[in-house]
This record gives sequence, structure tokens and C-alpha cells, in this order.
Amino acid sequence: MTHQELFNLACEARKNSYAPYSKYQVGACILTEDGQTFLGCNFENASYGATICAERCAASCAVAAGQRRFMAVAIAANTAAWPCGICRQVLREFACGPDMPVIVGPAGGEFTVKTLSELLPESFGPEYLLGNK
Ligand code: THU
Repeated sequence: MTHQELFNLACEARKNSYAPYSKYQVGACILTEDGQTFLGCNFENASYGATICAERCAASCAVAAGQRRFMAVAIAANTAAWPCGICRQVLREFACGPDMPVIVGPAGGEFTVKTLSELLPESFGPEYLLGNK
């Protein structure tokens, strides 16, 4: 699966965004180790703090399907929107490694790619708690 294909899927997922308050629509697509893709969109709430970001929506779907190793993540929004801090940490938990590509761009436009470790350097992760380090 190419970065362009993953980004296109994120653009499709964005169409289901429920963002009546911010009007900022976000779609995400996660590629898992077995080649499956999981889509997510942001969905807001009248109690604003209950809002769920597109990335965590997609991550929830992947984990619920038994997938715990993410190979790449694509995100499409109104503008190029790098994932928020909470979503970076959630992606870190299941990322295949620090070089996992994060593909970001405005829906229907040109995307940019950075690695997870560029977005979340010196990060804390499962290995600190699971005795692997
Ligand atoms: N949002 C995401 O879906 N992902 C992010 O990483 C940043 C923010 C959403 C949450 C909210 O619905 C809207 O964008 C404005 O913050």
C-alpha cells in the first residue's frame, strides 16, 4: 500500500467526520502489520471534552480487531494537521517503531511525511513498563 493510497483512504474517512462545533473535519487511516487498513474520523460532542480525534478513532478500530502493530498512519483534514499530543502518544503505543511514517495533508491536496519519532522525540512507551529496557 502506497502513502498516496493511505492518504486517499484518510480523505474518504474524513467524509464521515462529525464536527458540527469546530467544523474541522479529520479523517485517518492506519495500516496494520497484516496489510489491513482501519479508518477513523473525529466525532465531537456537545460536551466538548468528550470529542474523539480521528487518529484515536482509527486506532480503536484496529485494536478492537486484534491489530497491535501499526505500520503507517495517514491523516487528512481541512489543512495539513499534525496529530495532537494525545494522539501521538496513542500511536506510539502501537507503532512498529520510531520510523513509522505519519502522512499528513489537506484533504485532496499534497501530503507530507514525517516519522513518529520526529513528532514525538524521546518518548515514553511500553518497553519502560514491560521489562524490555
Ligand atoms: N482533531 C483530530 O481529529 N485529530 C487531531 O490530531 C487534532 C484535532 C479534531 C478534534 C476536533 O474535533 C477538531 O479536530 C478540532 O480540534
